[in-house]
Amino acid sequence: MIGFGALNLDKIYRVDKIPAADEEGFVRDIQLFPGGSAANTIVGLSRLKVRSAYIGKIGDDVEGKILLEDLEKEGVDTKAVIKADGRSGTAIIFVDDLGNRAILVDPGVNDTIRYEEIDLNFVKSHSLIHLTSFICKNGFESFKSQKKIVGEFELVSFDPGMPYAERGNEIIPILKKTTIFLPNKIEIEKIFNMDYMSAAEECISLGIEVVAVKLGEKGCWIKSKSKEIFIPPFSVRVVDTTGAGDAFNAGFLYGYINGKDIEKCGKIGNYVASLCIQQIGARAGLPRSVPIDF
Ligand SMILES: Nc1ncnc2c1ncn2[C@@H]1O[C@H](COP(=O)(O)OP(=O)(O)OP(=O)(O)O)[C@@H](O)[C@H]1O
Ligand SMILES: [Mg+2]
Repeated sequence: MIGFGALNLDKIYRVDKIPAADEEGFVRDIQLFPGGSAANTIVGLSRLKVRSAYIGKIGDDVEGKILLEDLEKEGVDTKAVIKADGRSGTAIIFVDDLGNRAILVDPGVNDTIRYEEIDLNFVKSHSLIHLTSFICKNGFESFKSQKKIVGEFELVSFDPGMPYAERGNEIIPILKKTTIFLPNKIEIEKIFNMDYMSAAEECISLGIEVVAVKLGEKGCWIKSKSKEIFIPPFSVRVVDTTGAGDAFNAGFLYGYINGKDIEKCGKIGNYVASLCIQQIGARAGLPRSVPIDF
């Protein structure tokens, strides 16, 4: 399994207040969370002992070093992570005592992955590629590379996130090559401009094998050519939903890779997501095994 998406370091600053222009605030504490949607999913799969690798780009800075070392620590092969001059992707997140947030995103070198830079021989030693969005604020190279690379794989999974949902028709070339489509309800409805069940029909007619629509606290709904089914969520105490969708993807893909039927895949997706949301951050709750009776 190989992921292809942005690599970001989230820097969470706990502050006494979020200053307006010309004001001053004070930092109480800083926490670093390696992230990037596809990277979170790949870490989830690697923890579940799936052979995993990543296509991404980091800059020649401390943040890049942290991102790379973190993937390696998680057992993800980083041979296809490209090192470039410039800044790594970061998100600077300010959280005040009342829980208000202000976020500044620096895409850094994320948007600049040229197709020629990707080690195709290595990449193609993986049978499934998982794609998530790039912000495309610093160019379209990475997005273009994704549109091209899907032609090299039999199995493609794709979570568009809001950045690609907003690109609408531009993502059709990826959708046409997608095997497993993993949007949330808002995203699929935005892309097709219709309710999610009708949109999923459209997906099937584009040639997509399975559509899993994430419904937040309502669980998920899954459709294939021959089946459609709602799968209720696990009832848990929610602490932080950051990365819930990425965790769901890890569980769903783990089921798929292991030959489970789509209902079981959805159940494992809900299960892994339910563990994620009981802890702070996108990765802390990702499990190292799933119960065998799934
Ligand atoms: N309150 C909840 N209780 C139980 N499970 C939940 C809850 N919220 C989310 N989940 C689980 O997490 C999965 C993914 O959540 P969601 O639908 O919010 O995805 P998303 O919008 O793509 O998330 P993300 O913001 O991480 O991209 C759901 O399908 C469900 O299994
Ligand atoms: Mg999502």
